[in-house]
Amino acid sequence: MRVLHLSLTDFRNYASAEVALARGPNLFVGSNGQGKTNLVESLGYLASLGSHRVSSDAALIRQGTDSAIVRARLEAGDRELLAEVQINRSSPNRAQVNRGAIKPRELPRYFTSVLFAPEDLALVRGEPSGRRRFLDELLVTRSPRLAGVQADYERVLKQRNTLLKSARASGVKPNRLGTLDIWDERLVALGSEIVVARDQLVADLAPEVARSYAAVAGEDHAARLSTVLSIRGSVPDDETTAAEAPSESIPPAEVPEVFRQALARVRPSELDRGLTLVGPHRDDLFLSLNALPARGYASHGESWSFALALKLASAAVIRTDSATGDPVIVLDDVFAELDGSRRERLADAVADYEQVLITAAVEGDVPARLKAHTVRIAKGTIVEQPEPVSEAATPVEAAPVEAAGPVDEAATP
Ligand SMILES: Nc1ncnc2c1ncn2[C@@H]1O[C@H](COP(=O)(O)OP(=O)(O)OP(=O)(O)O)[C@@H](O)[C@H]1O
Ligand SMILES: [Mg+2]
Repeated sequence: MRVLHLSLTDFRNYASAEVALARGPNLFVGSNGQGKTNLVESLGYLASLGSHRVSSDAALIRQGTDSAIVRARLEAGDRELLAEVQINRSSPNRAQVNRGAIKPRELPRYFTSVLFAPEDLALVRGEPSGRRRFLDELLVTRSPRLAGVQADYERVLKQRNTLLKSARASGVKPNRLGTLDIWDERLVALGSEIVVARDQLVADLAPEVARSYAAVAGEDHAARLSTVLSIRGSVPDDETTAAEAPSESIPPAEVPEVFRQALARVRPSELDRGLTLVGPHRDDLFLSLNALPARGYASHGESWSFALALKLASAAVIRTDSATGDPVIVLDDVFAELDGSRRERLADAVADYEQVLITAAVEGDVPARLKAHTVRIAKGTIVEQPEPVSEAATPVEAAPVEAAGPVDEAATP
């Protein structure tokens, strides 16, 4: 898959921008704070309805305006399509595909990208929540249906926690909590589905991570990953070595029973703390290098290589599944973080993807072979881009997103 043309209106610091994109590498250069990340962030929004930098949409709308429009002409397999979203400050967002209204949450089905950014270092060094998010987003990309399962799990979890808190407050005896049993069953049903799906995903990622780590680092440090399941009762800390780390996966059919037993085991402490203590919301992904945990042991460069390997591996599994071709690879400010040989090896690792978008403040940081199509950005303006050469470069005529109709009535594609 690739982006043929991107149009922005009032997105971040762009009043308006028209950018033609090429097959293969596209480099966006400009000084700090000019709008390079903003540009690729707009495509990230089409792919995930979110931003890797902010959790609310408001920051995406240009200051002083009420709505931003991101419109991209895409080539997906042998199909061309026009995807667009209008992000509104005070009304629901709207989305269209080929000028027909769709629900905004359906947009990610049409466009897939994998973003690499400096923030990815937190996948290796940060808290478990970041690793869970990484897995869950990838799960949804692979099977969109799981978004519903995840949302339902979150809802049940919240309600169960409320019940636990009120039980604690009113001093209800653990064995008199009939309602809790009902919530437990729903928690187990939904949670088991997530545990099983994540476990399969980790199994698919593992060989790709090992391969990608060796490719980027130039050395094989035995990069491994395994699931840490709270329903197993094991939560490793920074002192755990890989040899001790719980890596046992549970046969899918047995997950619900293990989950149930874990809930029974922790019920007194759950009532004590008013919190659900086991389930996929407490699981983690354990990363190790040369049989030592990456977190707490790996060097800065090694941690970076691991983060890149996780992203490269996710691109590889998406590519394997996809009916519409490769995900678009976005490398935001990544080259500045790497030494010369890692830069070259990363360029090799992404060389055969259909389209790669790169941002850099310092052009010299980027390997020469990625500069074939260079776009220069200053103060939210495209100041220089290669001459339009193909059909790919025709600007998309402006379409009134207003014509989309109320979001609730939007048609399913
Ligand atoms: N909603 C907004 N309205 C107007 N300007 C905005 C908005 N959001 C961000 N900006 C501006 O966009 C600029 C940041 O752009 P961006 O993050 O794309 O920079 P960059 O070119 O990637 O820089 P760097 O090289 O430092 O990463 C900042 O000057 C910021 O003030
Ligand atoms: Mg940037």
